[in-house]
Amino acid sequence: MQRAHIIGTGSSIPERILSNKDLESIVNTSDEWIVRRTGIRERRISSNGRDESTTDLATRASVNAMKMAGISPSSLDMIVVGTVTPDRQFPSAACMIQKALNAENAAAFDLSAGCSGFLYALTMVNNAIRAGMCKTALVVGVERLSSIINWQDRGTCVLLADGAGAVVVDSTEEHHGILSTHLKSDGTFWELLYSLDGNSYVPEILQDVNKRPFHLKMDGNRLFKRAIGCMAEISREALEHNSLCSHDIDLVIPHQANIRIIKSLANNLRIPMERVYTNIHKYGNTSSATIPIALDEANRDGLLTKGAHVLLVSFGAGLTWGAAMLKWSISDGPGGRLEQAPPAPERQ
Ligand code: ACO
Repeated sequence: MQRAHIIGTGSSIPERILSNKDLESIVNTSDEWIVRRTGIRERRISSNGRDESTTDLATRASVNAMKMAGISPSSLDMIVVGTVTPDRQFPSAACMIQKALNAENAAAFDLSAGCSGFLYALTMVNNAIRAGMCKTALVVGVERLSSIINWQDRGTCVLLADGAGAVVVDSTEEHHGILSTHLKSDGTFWELLYSLDGNSYVPEILQDVNKRPFHLKMDGNRLFKRAIGCMAEISREALEHNSLCSHDIDLVIPHQANIRIIKSLANNLRIPMERVYTNIHKYGNTSSATIPIALDEANRDGLLTKGAHVLLVSFGAGLTWGAAMLKWSISDGPGGRLEQAPPAPERQ
C-alpha cells in the first residue's frame, strides 16, 4: 500500500518586525500584558513594497521545501494551500503559486479551514497519495493576517501576524511518514472567530464604504477554553489510533495561538514542554502557517531524527481542529537530505 511522507520543508516570513513596544503606540496595551497573557514578544508583518504578498511568501517557502526535497516544480502533481487570506478571492493562491513556480503539471486549489488549514490540506494530499491519485504534492500554509486585522482592536491585533510554511509530500511503500490524520469541525461556534469581509455575502452596492468591513472578530476567551479541550481530545485520538502513548511522542508541534493554550495542552497530555515546539514568541499567530513554519524550523535545527514520532495538532476558526501523527523519514545522517539542504532562510 502507498503511504505519504514529507521529504522537504520550507518557510518564509516577512522582514519587518513589529514588537510589543511598537504596539504600545498603536493600542492601549503593554509588553508586559502581551508576554504574560500570550507568550508573544514580536511578530512579522509584511510590506507591500518588499514582495511579501501571500503568493510571494508561499512561493519562497515552497522553493525552500523543494530544494530540500531535491525535486523540480514539474514533478508536482498537486498543490494544496490552506489560507484565509489569499491575494484575491479568485483565482486561488494555489494557482498563483503554481504560476510562480512553473509547476505546470500540478492540479492546484485552496482550502479554507482557519488555523487548521495546513492540517486539512495535508490530510487531502495524504489521502490523494494513498488513493493513487497523485505521487508528489506541495502542501502550503500561508497567511497575510495583517490585511484583515483591525488595528484598533487590542484583543486581536497583538496576536496575529504573517508568514508561510510548506512541505513536499511524496509516496512511499515504507511504513513511515504520515501514519494518520484526524479532522473535526463544529460550525455551531463559527461566531467565535470570523471575518466581516463577506465578499459575496453583502453585495458591494449595499455596503457603507466608510465602514471598513474587512476586519476579523474574535471571542478569545471562549475560543481559549474550547481550544485546549479540542486539541487534547484529537491528540488522544491520534495516539490511540496508532497504539502510541504520550511517552512515544518525540516532538509535539502545536498551532501557535497562545503559550498558555500550548502549556495546558502539554499538561493535559502529560508531555513535558521540552518535547513541545514553540516559536510563538518570535512570530505570533500566523494561523495556517504556524505548524509548517515550526516544522521547518524544528527540522532544520535537527530536532527531528529519522524514525521520530511527531504529533501535529491545530485549532482554529470554523471551528476546525485536527491532528497528524508522523513517523519522520527525512534522513539527517551523512548524505541525508537535510545535510544537503540550504540553511534555514535568514531570520532577522
Ligand atoms: N492589552 C491589554 N489588555 C488587554 C488586551 C491587550 N492587548 N487584550 C485584552 N485586554 C484586556 C481585556 O479588555 C480585559 O479587560 P477587562 O478585564 O478590563 O475587561 C482583560 O484584558 C482580560 O481579557 P480576556 O479576553 O479575558 O483575556 P485573556 O486572558 O482571555 O486573553 C486572549 C485574551 C489572549 C485573546 C486569549 O483569550 C486567547 O489567546 N484566546 C485564544 C485565541 C485563539 O485560540 N484563537 C484561535 C485561533 S486564531 C485563528 O484562527 C486566526
